Amino acid sequence: MPDVPPRSAYPDTRAWLRALPALPARSAVDSGPVPAQPSTLFLRWLEEAVATGEPEPQATVLSTATAAGEVDARALILKDVDERGWWFSGTTDSPKGRQLAANPAAALTFYWPGLGRQVRVRGRVEAGTAEVSARDYLERSVTARAVAAASRQSEPLADEAEYDRAVAATVARIEADPGYVAAGWQAWCLVPDSVEFWLADPGRRHRRWRYRRAGATEWSTETLWP
Ligand SMILES: Cc1cc2nc3c(=O)[nH]c(=O)nc-3n(C[C@H](O)[C@H](O)[C@H](O)COP(=O)(O)O)c2cc1C
Repeated sequence: MPDVPPRSAYPDTRAWLRALPALPARSAVDSGPVPAQPSTLFLRWLEEAVATGEPEPQATVLSTATAAGEVDARALILKDVDERGWWFSGTTDSPKGRQLAANPAAALTFYWPGLGRQVRVRGRVEAGTAEVSARDYLERSVTARAVAAASRQSEPLADEAEYDRAVAATVARIEADPGYVAAGWQAWCLVPDSVEFWLADPGRRHRRWRYRRAGATEWSTETLWP
């Protein structure tokens, strides 16, 4: 990013934000034909994001809503992409877990700024089997497993020492029983109805095209106004 004077050099935050560079020059070119399956194009773009050094390109934003329509969103890590959909994981008793149980409609948003690319995946979330969730859990580090098992995620934490004690006790439990799987750990699959690919153009002639589900494995595609 080119040097931008500090915020204090501007009359207000609005002026500073306007001075920050957006969508630096890039070529609005995709490197191949439009495949029949959106997952094929997604994985091609993700491979290109990895190859060009995007930081943590497998990170995404999951948007959910309560049954009453209150919207929520948070970053998380993509765990897999297969013929069923896009996989991620977390705990069922977290806010996201409760929201998905009450309202399975969700979206994932990927943004790779170095490539000027965004992908939006929208659809319904299905819970993976206990076996798939257990495999996902056991692939995590011991500390990550302990945090997932011990945490009352997103609840107020009155005392940091309580967290340390809970995690230490769970690490000891996992070391004694390496096959231990936390009851609330869940792998979820976002089964898409639509997947949109967005490609920045420095001249604002952004390219957008959307896949819409037309059958179990069939998709229609359309170009969208930028
Ligand atoms: C880059 C990044 C990756 C994350 N990965 C996960 C993840 O894979 N699963 C998860 O439950 N939370 C993950 N988190 C934490 C979530 O953003 C969030 O704080 C947590 O899941 C609680 O969300 P909730 O209160 O909406 O349930 C990640 C956060 C960041 C910034």
